[in-house]
Amino acid sequence: MSQSAHPIGTATAWAGINIALVKYWGKRDTARNLPAVSSLSLTLAEMGTRTTVTFDPELTTDVFELDGEPREDPRVIAMLDGIRGLRRVERHARVVSRNHVPTASGLASSASGAAALAAAAWAATGGDLAAARADRAFIELVRRGSGSAPRSLYGGLVELDRDSGGVRPVLSASAWDLRMVVARLAHAPKKISSRQGMARTAATSPFYGAWVDAHPADMVAARAAIEARDLPALGAVMERSTYRMHAAMLGADPPLRYWNGRTLDALDRVEALRAAGVGAWATMDAGPHVKVLCLAADAEAVAGALAEVADPADVTVARPGPGATLEP
Ligand code: PMV
Repeated sequence: MSQSAHPIGTATAWAGINIALVKYWGKRDTARNLPAVSSLSLTLAEMGTRTTVTFDPELTTDVFELDGEPREDPRVIAMLDGIRGLRRVERHARVVSRNHVPTASGLASSASGAAALAAAAWAATGGDLAAARADRAFIELVRRGSGSAPRSLYGGLVELDRDSGGVRPVLSASAWDLRMVVARLAHAPKKISSRQGMARTAATSPFYGAWVDAHPADMVAARAAIEARDLPALGAVMERSTYRMHAAMLGADPPLRYWNGRTLDALDRVEALRAAGVGAWATMDAGPHVKVLCLAADAEAVAGALAEVADPADVTVARPGPGATLEP
């Protein structure tokens, strides 16, 4: 192998998972993984992926280990190939990754995984992460890894734009004392990947067009609510966005239902909390888990209510977290 143009080494990055308040579901360009709608998410501090990438002249192939197990994942190779292309590096890499979320259970570990991998690989080639965040080709690579992954490059509230495919931070993690209380309501991997689910919804759901058409108004309302730090308004947008996304999924053929019975039980608890005066709003992704947005002061009450439905060990109170960060 030839000498690379950049210093080669090793780097470790952490990326938090992000939960969309205004959802992304559907692609307008599958090859470039461009979304059919914009989205707005919150990056979390307590859950995510930590990845170490080492470009090693001794390796004759890329090696990937996830949670202590050797894996073969074409998405990891594709990401490394992309970084090698951008950084003009030819060496193979060893990738050691650990998820601090249940893998493929609808808790968005693919987003934190892609963001942590891209950040670590970029830094391992001597690249500057702040520069990477502003680099369109880098964002494009991360987005190809997972449509929602670029959102994990930034902390706090983050917007991903439909038209440019780019991301921008909307509000820093420390600017609003929010909490996301996550109730994990199943341990099995999700039934159908979001990539397949999106394709099926777009191809067969009569509600898909309506979902896409109604979406921009939700983005506008969410931005206004954030600007005004109006949690009831933001919570209302968040709930209608998730219900509209799931309505489009339910209209697919065959139908896509990611919820289970406990999902509905958890939603009942959230409604009961609100009726009792606790500001709590729910959102669900491509899985049965329920994530509840509230203020820090209400997090304990919310976690207590969700622990009546989920195993208390599966209820996590997560704070807004930073964007992808390099670790020593
Ligand atoms: O990034 P993907 O391909 O896993 O898609 C994420 C889709 C949802 O989680 C359901 C919604 C969202 O905006 O995160």
